Amino acid sequence: MSSKDKVLEILENNKEDFTSGAAIASSLGISRNAIWKAINELRKDRYTIEAISNKGYKLSSSSDIVSVPGIHSFMDDSTKKLFTDINVYDTLASTNRTAKEMAIAGAKSYTTVIAGSQTVGRGRRDHSFYSPEGGIYMSVILRPDVLSLTENDAITLATGNAVCTAIAGVTGLSPTLKPINDLYIDDKKICGILTEAGTEFETGEVHWIVIGIGINFNSDILAFPEGIKNRATSLYAPGDAPISKNQLIAEILKQLSLLK
Ligand code: BTN
Repeated sequence: MSSKDKVLEILENNKEDFTSGAAIASSLGISRNAIWKAINELRKDRYTIEAISNKGYKLSSSSDIVSVPGIHSFMDDSTKKLFTDINVYDTLASTNRTAKEMAIAGAKSYTTVIAGSQTVGRGRRDHSFYSPEGGIYMSVILRPDVLSLTENDAITLATGNAVCTAIAGVTGLSPTLKPINDLYIDDKKICGILTEAGTEFETGEVHWIVIGIGINFNSDILAFPEGIKNRATSLYAPGDAPISKNQLIAEILKQLSLLK
């Protein structure tokens, strides 16, 4: 891990307080100058970091940037141990597409792919899934070593319930699951789920599944294309979210890890 990521990890784990440069330096065994450089690199990456002399550094709550240290900071140790391979991108064609490529190449269960936007987001029945910034787009690989469910309907239903539970738990909102696997609030869609599988043709044996989840988190619904915007809503308005994307992602991953 780079010094920048190590400093970010410390700041994410101490979001409520200032952490002194001396404390960061001694826990990482690097110089104060190296920390100053890492802080500047993080600022270039759009993090807002408060700095007060004699107190140190603190990540501003307005920095809602998805990162592995940020997601891990909301996980207990046992969940963190499962999700060691989380891949975060600013933008991708489709997180399901990347996750499927990784699954075919042998990636292990709980490998996760997350993007801030998608250029070719896919929905069920080959529909497109509009995926601008402000949403959460994520895909998780599960294999039979962790998931004994093999029947499509059972996996689909369990996934939908897991995401519903995570959203309700973290936001206090009450989404409802509509068949097959869309989540609605006030009769408008906030989340779609696409589950894809790799099976052996001869035996029908499932080798991997990829669960793809798209959530309008703090999306600008008014800027959605005509035809979608009347049917969609977002958990929060842009700039209005009282929780971070990292927190919701961490809870979704935890709920997915409980699927058996
Ligand atoms: C639907 O509403 O029909 C399902 C939409 C699923 C969208 C998610 S976003 C993350 C993952 N990547 C994709 O291309 N699709 C899924």
